[in-house]
Amino acid sequence: MCGIIAVSKRTAALADVLDILRGALESLEYRGYDSAGVAVVIPPEAVTGKAPAGKASAGKAPDGQEVSDDKIWIAKSAAGTGSLNELAKKCEQFVLSVGNAPTDIVAGIGHTRWATHGRPIEANAHPLMSCNGEVAIVHNGIIENYFELGAQLQKDGHELTSETDSEVIAHLIESELAKDGSADVGDNGERLHKAVLKTVAALKGSFALAIVWSKAEGTVVAARRISPLIVGITSDLILVASDIPALLGYTRELFALEDDQVVQLRPGFLKLTDIKGAEIEPTPMNVDWDVQAAQRQGWDDFMCKEIHEQPSAVRDTLMGRLLPNGTLTLDETRFSDDELRSIEKVFIVGCGSSFHAGMVAKYVIEHWVRLTTEVDIASELRYRDPIMDSRTLVVGVSQSGETIDTLRALREAKRQKAKVLVVTNVVDSSMAREADGVLYTRAGPEIGVASTKTHLAQITALEILALYLAELRGTLYRQEISQLLKALAKLPLKLEQTLAHEAEVSLVADQFGQANTFFFIGRHVGYPVALEGALKLKEIAYLQAQGYAAGELKHGPIALIEPGVVVVGVATRTLLWEKLMANIAEVRARGASVVLVANQGDTETAERADAVLWVPTTHPLLAPILDIVPLQMLAYFLAIKHGNNVDKPRNLAKTVTVE
Ligand code: M6R
Repeated sequence: MCGIIAVSKRTAALADVLDILRGALESLEYRGYDSAGVAVVIPPEAVTGKAPAGKASAGKAPDGQEVSDDKIWIAKSAAGTGSLNELAKKCEQFVLSVGNAPTDIVAGIGHTRWATHGRPIEANAHPLMSCNGEVAIVHNGIIENYFELGAQLQKDGHELTSETDSEVIAHLIESELAKDGSADVGDNGERLHKAVLKTVAALKGSFALAIVWSKAEGTVVAARRISPLIVGITSDLILVASDIPALLGYTRELFALEDDQVVQLRPGFLKLTDIKGAEIEPTPMNVDWDVQAAQRQGWDDFMCKEIHEQPSAVRDTLMGRLLPNGTLTLDETRFSDDELRSIEKVFIVGCGSSFHAGMVAKYVIEHWVRLTTEVDIASELRYRDPIMDSRTLVVGVSQSGETIDTLRALREAKRQKAKVLVVTNVVDSSMAREADGVLYTRAGPEIGVASTKTHLAQITALEILALYLAELRGTLYRQEISQLLKALAKLPLKLEQTLAHEAEVSLVADQFGQANTFFFIGRHVGYPVALEGALKLKEIAYLQAQGYAAGELKHGPIALIEPGVVVVGVATRTLLWEKLMANIAEVRARGASVVLVANQGDTETAERADAVLWVPTTHPLLAPILDIVPLQMLAYFLAIKHGNNVDKPRNLAKTVTVE
């Protein structure tokens, strides 16, 4: 998804601010993007060299750089994943040509664009300018009424030059500034704030916005509806970004904008208002991630690092909940025990890997807690008219806490008076703030687009929740619970043992490196593991991979099984192992190659496979936490063998903030 950064810095040269913008855009890269751009308001005292070529009102120099008469410099690149490199070169040339004297204050904005409305070309890359070249904006989200707004703006004489839904915002702000009677007198930061208030009131849809105006030197105004936006503050620097990792290197003094809030910022000045202009006090965020956690630290890529961080992700998620005396505590969810006892039905909702974690939870909650549990894809649940009430617990599962489909589904649940609990990795994320209760996974920042450590942490947190409910509602004996807690506590060590098989998994990837059709099958809790294994292979290796409930194969998909197809079975020892083996026999009989996830030393399973992915034994309902790991590694090695960038797979975004 698009990434936004805005900066205002005191006693800075242009190069300082451009460096901060570039660095922040690099840390937003993982969200997925196809073009990028920056804009800075040029303070006159910064210009010591000759003025840049192509100076014209929002005009374009031959090299694609734009400079308005009113001193906003813009550079863009639509070179796909090479955009940020190209942009860095343009910034260097610009600084060389205009000079780099220190000035009192410099403000700028930057953007990585993940195309929705309009092709990934420079004209559609952000920042986008108003006609007079005085206002530049960056936007994440979708303006649903852009067509009507654009038509009216054109009638009023504005010239729209991009194919985006976002450009109207710059023109609307320009119009509002023009209507303002106090033109060119008074506090221009305040004038911009008011113009943005009027503009966002006219917008339908979702937005995270950052705006600079050439006449409001050093001021950034930002606004939010649905799409996330975080503000970071130091004594001489303010930053606004789409997510926390972009800010971690500068400050932990952060707060998140809420829906329909607008903020006006300069170092030493902050004014936060609601959409009507009433002032609000920001609520600080509590972020305990450190900068290193969001860096590669010598690993080849983030995905590999994060796969190897899984033992600590699970350990940290258990920490403080699994007490040394073998009992469980879960005070932090904000629900009273009576409230949790009153629940009659559970819905679990999420997208992608988070949905798969929710599927595992359905099996465990139904089995251990004996509560009817539905699990649904968020974008489906939201619009299928589900029936909920105050005795329904809706559990939203989301690594980012910002996925728009899940956020909307949870809002629908709240509208129906259900109790909403969120399992998320991001403290004070939108879902965490809006939910009635939160259960944080403690996996640390996940930068690789493919979820790995956060997925395992989600399953761990959901298993803890299920055991807590079982204890509270008396559906499991104390002794059963304590055995399960002991088994949970052993998982970090068993994950380390699983990761020790990495080299063998790489050989299996070599063995099937030429295959291009994969089926992942499993039964019971092995079924969501199969779906997750297939999703990993699709998203980073770009291979045809289908995930199926093994028993369902013979109801249609088996027609696709033929020599050359690889069937990956989740064959650790569960109640349904024999039945799964029957399904494996069916695909072998039709010529498929078979790879099985099996418990260490289980020769009976190994005999039925062309290759084996070993995992330690654990309680069958905890097994997904181990079984998914070799499938993550298999997808990883196949992706690397195909020469893919595993951290930034094509077409994908880390956090999906559009429906
Ligand atoms: O942030 P969320 O957990 O809400 O994200 C949900 C999905 O977009 C996410 O799990 C996606 O499927 C991952 N790329 C899978 O690896």
